[in-house]
Formats: sequence, structure tokens, C-alpha cells
Amino acid sequence: DAGKRGNNRRRTFWRDFRPPPDGALVEYSWDDSPKMTVPSDWNSHAPELLWYDGPVYFQRLFDAPAPASPTDGQRRFLCFDAVNYHATVWLNGEWLGEHEGGFTPFALDVTDRLVAGVNRITLCADSRHHREAVPTDYTDWQNYGGITRSVWLTSVPATRIDDAVVRLVDDRVQVIVTLAGPAAAGAAVAVTLDPLKLSGVTDAAGQVTLSARRPRALALWSPDQPLLHPLEVVSPTDRLRDRVGLRHVAVAGQQILLNGKPLWLRGISLHEEPIGPVGTRRMNEADARRLLAEAKALGCNFVRLAHYPHGETTVRLADEMGLLVWAEVPVYWEHIAYGSDHTLALATSMLADMVRRDRNRASVILWSVANETPVDDVRTRFLRALIAEARALDPTRLITAALNKNVDVGGAAEGQSHFVVEDPLAADLDVIAVNQYEAWYSTRRPDQLDQVRFSSKFAKPLIFSEFGADARYGTRGPRGHLWTEEYQAWLYEETLKLVDRTPGCAGISPWLLKDFRSPRRWHGQHQQFWNRKGLIAETGERKLAWTVLHDYYARRAADPA
Ligand code: GCU
Repeated sequence: DAGKRGNNRRRTFWRDFRPPPDGALVEYSWDDSPKMTVPSDWNSHAPELLWYDGPVYFQRLFDAPAPASPTDGQRRFLCFDAVNYHATVWLNGEWLGEHEGGFTPFALDVTDRLVAGVNRITLCADSRHHREAVPTDYTDWQNYGGITRSVWLTSVPATRIDDAVVRLVDDRVQVIVTLAGPAAAGAAVAVTLDPLKLSGVTDAAGQVTLSARRPRALALWSPDQPLLHPLEVVSPTDRLRDRVGLRHVAVAGQQILLNGKPLWLRGISLHEEPIGPVGTRRMNEADARRLLAEAKALGCNFVRLAHYPHGETTVRLADEMGLLVWAEVPVYWEHIAYGSDHTLALATSMLADMVRRDRNRASVILWSVANETPVDDVRTRFLRALIAEARALDPTRLITAALNKNVDVGGAAEGQSHFVVEDPLAADLDVIAVNQYEAWYSTRRPDQLDQVRFSSKFAKPLIFSEFGADARYGTRGPRGHLWTEEYQAWLYEETLKLVDRTPGCAGISPWLLKDFRSPRRWHGQHQQFWNRKGLIAETGERKLAWTVLHDYYARRAADPA
């Protein structure tokens, strides 16, 4: 870490704003360095950085409001919504802290480090993924590097409201408030969720659980009626406001129940990348709203936010727009170091950060711990530890994982396939999810999908979390030709029939809404470093398959049975 590299001054002057001593060899100059807008990724910022993977140093000056008074007891934090992949931060030339993980928030205490007036923050964002990283560098998406989500400075009372968890348990509204700071214990706390008014006193650990029967006025949240209620939590020195939905989610046999009624998930998978000609990780609210509006236009009531925690703005918009959410940590593919304690600790902290950030979002119904991971004991032990953590942090939501190893037990006749989900991890999941690419990554063609059937050995809901085919928008031709929009549409038509004849299927989230950048997609005519399984092009044009899924969802919505 450069910040700790001792006296190798030649290479660390960048931390100090003072010019280097005359004659010193210094191989950079902040004043002559390029500038970029943050939050964003450097790959989309400059053509020469499109494929750059490594450290980039950022520096800016900012005015810090002088503490109201040295004794006001306020704590000041620098908050980061995400930096991909590893962040090292210096403030006024002194090392402040580090964070590993490209998609979850972190905060650094700067209370005693800020100076009144001009301060200088230096941040190294290193996009490289080491062998024990989560994910590794082996992913089917562009590894956008940089300060990819917002950064801000906040000030909180010495004793703050650190957390307020709102849950519906049976038909009681439960609010668990946790204070942090010197006066956390024995403090009076009041919660308003109109018309509910609850109050209590925190215990020695600074926590209090308040609950009351849910009044009818606090109507339940659902995709059709995404009602959010104003929440206010007041402690002696702090106040928290939010808007929350109340709903139940559960499984019963092979059904998913929302507010006690069977639910069929009309979904679509999404990467965190806005509609537009240039692939980028920069998603502002308008970008997120437009992407989710495309899902709503498709007839979705569900989005799989793949393969990592998306921005909080997106999840809050799902609350507002009435889209159920599958949220996941990037435990992705077989290269993860499943036997490493560091990797498990890292994945566990990412999961915990995701759950703590989003567990008040009614739209989130599924926590996913993995995508397409190898079926072996080391991986299964790793994922069971993650599942235990998720259940400890949030006993109210369903746990899933996208599996992809099915055993083909063969069909009744020659040439038939019967894929049975036998992954031992399924025993630990509430909802079983399967990625399958028959008629794309297989020798079959769509008209042979009638030879295929899926089932699972577990009496649990099963969802198809991925299926699809590449087609560049505008590539037209006979439907038998790979890479055409017609082929993609044909695959959807035939796969949807397979879905309809799969026992226990509780929904789908096809792969995926929009073409996205990937360094693995090299076909010079059809891909150009874009994965083109989108139902819409990167610039938003809808392909033929969009209509196939739209019409199917319209029928499903009319007859949800
Ligand atoms: C995999 C994986 C996706 C990938 C997709 C594809 O199953 O989960 O991240 O993009 O298939 O091959 O297009």
C-alpha cells in the first residue's frame, strides 16, 4: 500500500499537496493530470482507459464545515456508495482507511482528521481482482473501475441512530432500533409509522424492539399496490426518516406467497448499466428509472439484479415502482477461492453490507448467495456459511442461488433429456433457481426443446433464473439462423412452453433485459465486446423476442394460476 510504503518519498509525493523539493524526480503532476466527473468509471471516460485494469489515483479539495464547536460531539464520516474494486483513502496526506469490494457502501470516520476550511482527499481505486477476491477477474461483464457511486461527507450526533429495521412478523409491525455512541443505553426512542406511534427505552446494548398489531390503515405493499409509508425514528439526539412498505413473503410447497397469495414471478435479469451507446457503470436516478420502466413495460413484476448488489437508488425505485427484487452477491462461477477463509470473510461482509443496506426495502424478497458455482463440498460449505449469515441478519426473506448443474437422467425415448436439479445446496435454499441455455449453449435447436424437461428432487419453488440467446438488434433472417432476432424470439417461444410444462415453476428471470459490455464477447460481427442476449439493444431498441415475452407476461398477468 503506497500509503504505508515508508520513506520511499519519490513515489509518495502525490499524497502531499506541497510541491516536491526542487530537483526531486517526481513522475506525476496533479495540476497537469486529467479530470473526470465522479461518480463514474474510468473505462467509459477515456478511450485509452477502456480496458485499463489497475490503480488510478484521484484527488480533490473540499471545504469542510468547521465543527460547530470542538465539544459538539458530532462525528463526521466520509461515505462511499461504491468503489470498484479496492479503495485506499488518504485525508490531508495521512492514510485514512481501505475497503475491498466493488458494490457495497463503506464509511470512514474523519471526525478528528478534518481541518476547518480546505481539505484534501486522495483515493486510489484499484480495479484488479486478486485470487481470493469476490468476484475474481473471471466474469462475463465489463470490470468497470473507479469511484462508481456517490461520495459524501456527513455529520451525525455523538450518539446516533445506527440502524432501524422494520419488519412485518405475522401481522405485527416490528421495529428494531439500535443506537451507537456513548449515550446509547437507556435512551428513549419513539417510532412513528402513522397511525402507529411506538416508544420504548434502549437496553444496555443500545437496542430496543417495538411492535404493535398492524392497523388496517398501514396497507400492505405489492407490485400492483406499491404503498410506502412514512417512517420516523426519534432518539434524544438523532432523527431518521424513511418510507417503507410492509408485506409478507413466504414459500408454501412449490409456491411463493406474497401477502398470503400465490405469486408467479414475471421477471427479467439486469446488469447495472444504463441504456445508452457507451457501456458504463454510472447510473443516476433517471438511468435507473428508465431501466426499471423498461421492465415494467415488458409486464414484469420482478427483476433479478445480477450479479452483485446494485445501487441503493435502483432498489429504492423498485420499492416505488412495484418491482420485486432478487439481490445477489458476486460469488460467481468456479474461480472463487471457496477454500479460503479470507474469501469467505469477504463474501460474508459483502452479504452483510447488502442486507443491512436493503432490509427495509419491501421490494427485496430474495437474497442470492451464488451464481453458477461448482457442485463440490468446499463450495457447498462456503455457501452454507453465507446462507447462515443471511438468515441471521434477516429471517424474513427467502434465500436462493442460481444453480446450473443439472443431472440429465435421460428421457423416456432416445434423444430426450430430463434435467433433474440434484445440487445438494438446494436443500438449504427456500427457492431453487436454475440457469439453463438449451438451444443456445447446446446442440439442440428450439424446435427440439419438446425433448427437454426439468424437475427438481426438492419440493420447493423452482425458477428459471436465466435462459436466452444472443442477437444483435437489426440482424434479421430465417429463424433457423443463429444470431438473428428471429432465432432469439423462436428460442423464447419454445422455452416458454418448457416453462409452462415444468412442475413447481414459480417464475422466470430470462437473461436479460439489455445488451451489456463484456470483454468475453468477441464475435466481430455479432458482439463487438457486447453480450447481446438483451431483449433490447444497448441503445434501447426492442428486439422481436421482447414482444414474445411481453405477450406471454400479459397472458400470465391475466391468468396468474
Ligand atoms: C451465464 C452467467 C451470465 C452470463 C450468461 C451468458 O450463465 O450467469 O453472467 O452472462 O450465462 O453466457 O450470457
